[in-house]
Amino acid sequence: MPTPAAPAEPKKKSKTPELVRGFRDVLPDEQWYWDRVEQVAASITKSYSFNRIRLPVLESVALFERTAGKESDVVTKEMYAFEDPGGDKVALRPEGTAQVARAYIEHGMVNQPQPVKLWYFEQFFRHDRPQFGRYRQLQQFGLEALGSIDPIIDAQIMLMAHRFYRELGVEVVLHVNSLGTPASRKDYIAELLNYFKQHKNKLSELDKKRMLKNPLRLLDSKEPGMNELKAGAPQIIDYLDAESKAHFMKALEYLDEAEVPYVLDPHLVRGLDYYTHSIFEVFMINPKNDEMKGLALGGGGRYDGLVPLLGGRENTGGMGAGLGVDRTILAMKQSGVFQPSEEKRVDIFFCQLGEAARRKGLAVFEKIRVGGMSCAEAFGKGSLKAQLEVADKLKAKMALILGQKEVLDGTIIVRDMDSGAQEICDVEKVVGLLARRVVAKNKMSLVEKTALAAENLEAGILPEPVEIKKPQAPKPAAPIQKKRKLFGRH
Ligand code: HAM
Repeated sequence: MPTPAAPAEPKKKSKTPELVRGFRDVLPDEQWYWDRVEQVAASITKSYSFNRIRLPVLESVALFERTAGKESDVVTKEMYAFEDPGGDKVALRPEGTAQVARAYIEHGMVNQPQPVKLWYFEQFFRHDRPQFGRYRQLQQFGLEALGSIDPIIDAQIMLMAHRFYRELGVEVVLHVNSLGTPASRKDYIAELLNYFKQHKNKLSELDKKRMLKNPLRLLDSKEPGMNELKAGAPQIIDYLDAESKAHFMKALEYLDEAEVPYVLDPHLVRGLDYYTHSIFEVFMINPKNDEMKGLALGGGGRYDGLVPLLGGRENTGGMGAGLGVDRTILAMKQSGVFQPSEEKRVDIFFCQLGEAARRKGLAVFEKIRVGGMSCAEAFGKGSLKAQLEVADKLKAKMALILGQKEVLDGTIIVRDMDSGAQEICDVEKVVGLLARRVVAKNKMSLVEKTALAAENLEAGILPEPVEIKKPQAPKPAAPIQKKRKLFGRH
């Protein structure tokens, strides 16, 4: 007799893989913010004649080592760098300016009318410590103008950054400073080093390392006690040569002319090595939450040495900005910017009763799509009540009800979801009717709708009950009925 098989070991359920730390999903509820930011970015850049560029996610490690700086945090600590299967050293891009400069040289953009003005809306990757407003995949709206050393371009980029936030409903102020030319910066760095050496005992171990590698970075330090120390540090503005001072003064004059709100921040430095002359960061005015204070929504500056550093023409000049989309969205929410409730509503909800109606539904959907309206359905639900409940949840403006009878008659029921009023319409003419109704509804303000609903209630007009028709034998086509009662949702 065969021996009974040993009871099978219960299968161990493996843990569902989770998000990688520092990365996020953007769920449908958030989508409006992302679309809105991209739309405003697209419209501002269109008005200023910037052209969009799409850049690859992967670049050579050498590109960032040469441009952002071998000792910069972005390169030493934060870069997702690895060897690809072919043995090439590549990195998930940590920033976009170096990429744009590479593309400018690689595609001979120097031969186009200068400056070449480009914008991007892309993801970047930095293995930073995740915290409020700091993610390992971040999105930037970037602006880059290459091929001009004119300070008016500095002002134009800063002005665009300011207008971008204003358009989004976020009040911001720009912090500006100048790093001058590399030559004029040398004396300043020596002086800064002297100053911090005198206070070496107050520096953390991390800052002592920074002091040896790049003393400018100490001005960026968030270590305890550094604010007081930084306040007494020498200021770069006092060390700028005449050319650098003149450039900066001109840029500020243009900003004044354009009425861009800014403050001079003599200790502002940036985390990337390629900057020269004007640099800036964007901060929210009066943020509601403390974590938002001191969190730059965006930043940028001039980078006249970048294109030559990558082998391009000397004196090419460049100025740009990277505006952080993730933080911009946090700022929009803090500023009370929300999706208008009307925009959340779906235009049409399609209800079907019976298989023939379901099949016809696909064709009706196509008509509505071509008519430019949004349409939802619950094909999985059978009863009209259940389908109308979904329509209500989606705040549909109008519902279409198609039963067996209507399929045979070539008609369809149109229900106003705000008033409950229903009418029967020839299916061939329904798109035109829906479009007229939806346009009328979009024009009607919420206040008007509420007032009308209240009036109806006082007059004892109740919404039309939903009549659920059972599939029945065909009858001659019914005449189009119109009911004009307007009331709140059914
Ligand atoms: P950045 O200051 O490194 O500059 O980044 C610009 C903006 O990107 C920041 O102000 C911030 O809003 C956002 N950002 C940076 N890191 C993170 C993060 N870990 N999580 C969320 N948001 C972040 C640049 O990248 C330069 N390429 C900007 C530029 C363009 N300069 C000239 N042209």
